[in-house]
Amino acid sequence: MKKFTALWLSAIFILIIGIIFGGGMFETVDAGENFIVYLPYVKDVSVEVTLADGRFTPHTLAVRPGTMVQWENNEVISHTLIGDKSWLPDPILAPGTQFTWLMDTPGIYHYASSFSSGIEGEILVLEGGAETLFEGTPVEEAYLDYCSGCHGADRGGGVGPALIPDMMLEVDSFYFDTIKNGRVGTIMPAWGSFGLTDEEIWMLVGFLRSEPNYAELEWGMPQIAASRTVLVPEDQLPPAPTHNGKLDNLFLITEREARRIAVVDGDTHELLAHIDASYRAHGYAFDPTNDRWAYNLGRDGWVFKIDLYSLQAVTKVRVGHDSRGLAISDDGQYLIAGNYIPHTAVILDAQTLEPLKVLATEGTDPDGVFVQSRVAITSDVAPDLVGPYFILGLKEAGQVWRIDYSQPDFPIDKLENVGRILHDGFLSPDNTRFYIASQGDSYMAVIDVQNWTLVDTIATGDLPHPGSGAVWEAGGVEYGATVHAGEGLVTVWNLADNEIMAQIPTSGPGLFIRTHEANPYVWADTMFGPSPNEIYIINKTTFSVTHVISDGLQTLHPEFTQDGSYIYISDWLGNVVRVYDANTFTLVAVIEDVITPTGIFNTARRYEKLGH
Ligand code: HEC
Repeated sequence: MKKFTALWLSAIFILIIGIIFGGGMFETVDAGENFIVYLPYVKDVSVEVTLADGRFTPHTLAVRPGTMVQWENNEVISHTLIGDKSWLPDPILAPGTQFTWLMDTPGIYHYASSFSSGIEGEILVLEGGAETLFEGTPVEEAYLDYCSGCHGADRGGGVGPALIPDMMLEVDSFYFDTIKNGRVGTIMPAWGSFGLTDEEIWMLVGFLRSEPNYAELEWGMPQIAASRTVLVPEDQLPPAPTHNGKLDNLFLITEREARRIAVVDGDTHELLAHIDASYRAHGYAFDPTNDRWAYNLGRDGWVFKIDLYSLQAVTKVRVGHDSRGLAISDDGQYLIAGNYIPHTAVILDAQTLEPLKVLATEGTDPDGVFVQSRVAITSDVAPDLVGPYFILGLKEAGQVWRIDYSQPDFPIDKLENVGRILHDGFLSPDNTRFYIASQGDSYMAVIDVQNWTLVDTIATGDLPHPGSGAVWEAGGVEYGATVHAGEGLVTVWNLADNEIMAQIPTSGPGLFIRTHEANPYVWADTMFGPSPNEIYIINKTTFSVTHVISDGLQTLHPEFTQDGSYIYISDWLGNVVRVYDANTFTLVAVIEDVITPTGIFNTARRYEKLGH
């Protein structure tokens, strides 16, 4: 880089200013073995990078052309800054000294300390500065949007490894390469092909090199209340549906990376609309008292109230930074949303989305340690069957809470020692039993909902993952089933005595299993297996595999039409949803114009008694 001309021009300018306004403008810098240069700087226009604790802060700095960047060495040893491709004059920074350099040509500049190649940094010189990255969103938000689902909002890890400085021992280019190109054979996506620029990826690398700031993740009642936004006043909504879809047979389909929800008419298999939502629409709830309203919770914590007449979101509120479960009370009055970050659950007024109560989800885990816990699942019990309860699974605390939403202040009954690392759960059809997966202990825990006691555990395969679960009746016996995130297996048990009736091998781990009372089969995916496009169709009575569908690339989340005659299956990587005749398994429609489709939810779920 030919910095010197510009540098000296600005030096002369600053010198004149310096003469006018007085001294203190110059810094002595040892810029090499044999010579010393005097670089002028003005504090106001310089951006600082400090070197302390073996790292540069900020690690990645985005500036506009013409910015003076100043490094300060706060360590007790000297460091020489080495720019890749010699863009820096190898300045030696003695302890306590600074070095200033003008950054004026757009580009990506790497540097490292001669002391250790692991002490690295990047300067991004961008026309327009940092605001041009991630469409103006700060990198912390971009991380929450794109990465936290797998690596945790606090970067403590999830399905992906922890991304905190102590765990990241490789050089920057290694992590840049992982983020840009993904990891073949794992679910780590190639973000370069999802549209992140090199500059944005370097910004993420810099963010991962910083210590997590847990305080920034606080999100309590004031923040929730302030986030509530009316998008369309309800008095301006049309009085009747503006589409021909049947309100009890609409499909809401998460378009995972596209911040929207596709709506499909389950009678005609026509795509009706895309509803703008937030990142990774996750939990859905349907108002049991009014077919007009549906709700969605994005993984980034935004809850949307959706008008199914006009197919748009009307109100939104942010309940947390990283969220999963959503349930609605049978009277349509309350919603409960479960968060991963912060460790809370939030009860909302379902009509207005105003927050009513924030519950701190913490408690003593099965090993006797008091922990703050993510919320694994939220569910709701039918008041006419058992009582007016929400059920909440606390992942790390291993507790399940029963909340009486008919009482003032929502009293909680806590059931401890249910299992380690709780996950999804579902209710028996009569709502007297709640089955929740313990992934730490690889069993399904069976809870008596009325007496609020743990009555049994069913040892399944590795990492049971029931999703919405499957429950059916055949030959006068009621069965429940789960797939497993850890192995290719469907485990079936008898609901009456919790005895395992069948363990059916599949080609690989799956996440979702589903059935319908009008269909003779149970449908299970293998989306995490070596053949991630297989859907197993299992006979409800004989437990034999009747058929395997293997269309598409990575298929998941089977969901029936209201009457059970058709089944919808998302192809996440294939960007289509396929519709099959649920009895002959013939393909009857392919729904295109859906981006990264994952979860599929039929509005008929509003009547389902399984608790979601
Ligand atoms: C769908 C889940 C998923 C998402 C989303 C995801 N990752 Fe990953 N990531 C993974 C998995 C799984 C691995 C481990 C891959 C392996 O086993 O090699 C990984 C590995 C990594 C690694 C390497 C860590 C190491 O120590 O080797 C980095 C860095 C990383 N991810 C950054 C990111 C960033 C940044 C984002 C967001 C832009 C992101 N990931 C989004 C799943 C994900």
